[in-house]
Amino acid sequence: MTQIPASASSGDVPGMGRRQFMNLLTFGSVTGVALGALYPVVSYFIPPKAAGSGGGIAAKDELGNAVTASGWLSTHREGDRNLVQGLKGDPTYLIVEGSDAIGSYGINAICTHLGCVVPWNAAANKFMCPCHGSQYDATGKVVRGPAPLSLALAHVSVESDNVFLSQWTETDFRTGEKPWWV
Ligand code: FES
Repeated sequence: MTQIPASASSGDVPGMGRRQFMNLLTFGSVTGVALGALYPVVSYFIPPKAAGSGGGIAAKDELGNAVTASGWLSTHREGDRNLVQGLKGDPTYLIVEGSDAIGSYGINAICTHLGCVVPWNAAANKFMCPCHGSQYDATGKVVRGPAPLSLALAHVSVESDNVFLSQWTETDFRTGEKPWWV
């Protein structure tokens, strides 16, 4: 009966180790190649980030189309406050400040009382919540409760005619306080 020398069997151990190592290498390269090949496919399905200032997002109209400054200004008049889809999809008012200017801040339309969307009342020059009667002035500052806080702000910027919204993290210019929504 042939005996397997102890040295031969112990010599197999590093041999197995090498094979596993090679398997790992092969697996690694195959996976790498596969991932590399998949990248264009995967990236095709990831919507491109809207290039905005400071990580902002493109303002969208009610149909989901990107809002352009020229288009908006041709259909809205000075002083108008109308809704776009803003940050996190929140309804946000753009303000027309003149025939060729969109205001540099937008006003989040969600009432700070219980979350109703607050309509703009041009005749009263206020935002007036239909749910429990809260009122906000033309800048979105609360002027009548029960809403405890002013409407949130967002930065508005125009780049290559596209309108972008981004987080307002600075002092709330209406109250001189830190923004409550950040
Ligand atoms: Fe606007 Fe209550 S939700 S006043």
